[in-house]
Amino acid sequence: MTKIFCYNTREDEVPYIKEWGEEHPDVEVAYTADPVTPQTVNEAKGANGIVATQQLDYSAEVLQGLADLGIRNLSLRNVGYDNVDLKKAKELNFKITNVPVYSPNAIAEHAAIQAARLLRQSKVMDAKVANGDLRWAPTIGREVRDQTVGVIGTGHIGRVFMKIMEGFGAKVIAYDLFKNPELEKKGYYVSLDELYRQSDVISLHVPATKENIHMINDDSIKKMKKGVVIVNCARGALVDTDAVIRGLDDGKVFGFVMDTYEGEAGIFNADWQNKEIPDERLKNLISRSNVLVTPHTAFYTTHAVRNMIFKGFNNCLALAENKEPESPVKY
Ligand code: NAD
Ligand code: COI
Repeated sequence: MTKIFCYNTREDEVPYIKEWGEEHPDVEVAYTADPVTPQTVNEAKGANGIVATQQLDYSAEVLQGLADLGIRNLSLRNVGYDNVDLKKAKELNFKITNVPVYSPNAIAEHAAIQAARLLRQSKVMDAKVANGDLRWAPTIGREVRDQTVGVIGTGHIGRVFMKIMEGFGAKVIAYDLFKNPELEKKGYYVSLDELYRQSDVISLHVPATKENIHMINDDSIKKMKKGVVIVNCARGALVDTDAVIRGLDDGKVFGFVMDTYEGEAGIFNADWQNKEIPDERLKNLISRSNVLVTPHTAFYTTHAVRNMIFKGFNNCLALAENKEPESPVKY
């Protein structure tokens, strides 16, 4: 009997796992809340493949541990696979799948909502109201329709984000290494420097690759407009956080939307209510009224989570049955 073992299972995913299991009575499904680490790989013993999603690395040690159990099928139930040691995976002959499209709207909507909230200084106004200060001034907002919005990365998520911002009436411009022919025809694309020069809001929707680590840095911020809003709901590594803090301090950057953070592994999706968050820079950012921090929750909707489970499990089953999965990671 085919067996699928699911790591990092959250309570909100269990009903969807059960639903998938009921539709596949011939597959044994087991799950744990544990992440996959060198210490937990043994839990998957006997499985044909694992389904996982996590910010922790799928390190060489993790992959070796799985391979030692005869497990070489790794199905990620999320988009990004930048935390997989692909060199080791290749050496061990791993088959990897991801879920490249589970709900681009979830992330795009979150980015758009947070950008609009920043422009309206919502965090400042919320704090004033909570303190009984019901005065208007000086908390005046900017309308989205008056902004030029620069979108870096016009893939699945970036394109939905563009539509939403256009719905608000913004002027949208874009940059991508590989131009989408339809968007190109409509004249959205500009060079990266031109995007930095013109944009009031800049939103990142590219993967973290070796080439674009810290693409937002002191130099790129220098090229931006004074009062720019920077939105990162893509990957923490894209942004040199210290450079953004310098930009916030000197007023060049009006605000920062941060759903993904370069130091997030082991910190986001954990409860720090009665403990010190072990990251001074993150605490500094959270305390600022012009920085909107969310703990990598842009994706976190019922629509997205159901799709992640179903597509993740379908891929894993296809690998186990030596069939072509819907979304193999080609590496
Ligand atoms: P996608 O692959 O559909 O699109 C990415 C686009 O970026 C492509 O068009 C590609 O050509 C372009 N690109 C790659 N490198 C580039 C570069 N250096 N400069 C310009 N363009 C470049 O990806 P997607 O599904 O739209 O995901 C976008 C980002 O969102 C990824 O980083 C992904 O990991 C992240 N993401 C975040 C969350 C979240 O919850 N915050 C959830 C899902 C995905
Ligand atoms: C992704 O799908 O790539 C995400 O960023 C969300 C996730 C890690 C649950």
